[in-house]
Amino acid sequence: MTTAKPAPPFRVLFSRDQILRRCAELARALQADLLRSGTGSPPVLVAVIEGARPFARQLQRLLPGNLPVHEVRAASYGGGTMSSGQVTVTGADRVPSRGRDVVLLEDIVDTGRTIATLQRYFLAHGVASCRVATLLSKPSRRVERVDLDHVGFEIPDEFVLGFGMDLDGRYRELGDVVVYDAEVERAFVRAGAAAGG
Ligand code: IMP
Repeated sequence: MTTAKPAPPFRVLFSRDQILRRCAELARALQADLLRSGTGSPPVLVAVIEGARPFARQLQRLLPGNLPVHEVRAASYGGGTMSSGQVTVTGADRVPSRGRDVVLLEDIVDTGRTIATLQRYFLAHGVASCRVATLLSKPSRRVERVDLDHVGFEIPDEFVLGFGMDLDGRYRELGDVVVYDAEVERAFVRAGAAAGG
């Protein structure tokens, strides 16, 4: 049996249950959208990893046909909570996307640069359509205009963690989506050190 690693008591923005319920709604809406205006062939799911893996896994489970999830990697954060402004995408050339309905799956759309870069790539490579489904969106942070087809939750300008989202590799495994707070983290680490942990 594995036990969850203790984490600082960050404020919970969305519980895992809330997220799973919303994923079910998103899957239904996406499916209806594809039936209404897709090619009629199964869509190509593309997850932006690492962060979107848990979200993509949920949608894969909820959509019919046990579709494969293709993974692309986008690097835009040099570390810390500030975007560097440069997005490098790898893996998109391996996605069989020509003539297909591509659905990009993101954990969070922040400045919009990552999704805009990916959409430009796929639209320039002969896809039938390129939709975006994201668990979270921070509209107030947008730098690039992007049309998001399916959004789980809109959130204010806060740095969030959990359900795949991380800070330099930390807290990705949390089931809930929480708000990062450096002071809460420092206090937690201090308390652990004082207890000899
Ligand atoms: P964008 O290109 O600025 O839209 O950023 C998208 C990527 O930035 C996401 O896929 C995340 O990896 C990362 N990101 C943006 N905001 C957050 C956050 O609040 N928590 C964790 N990662 C974030």
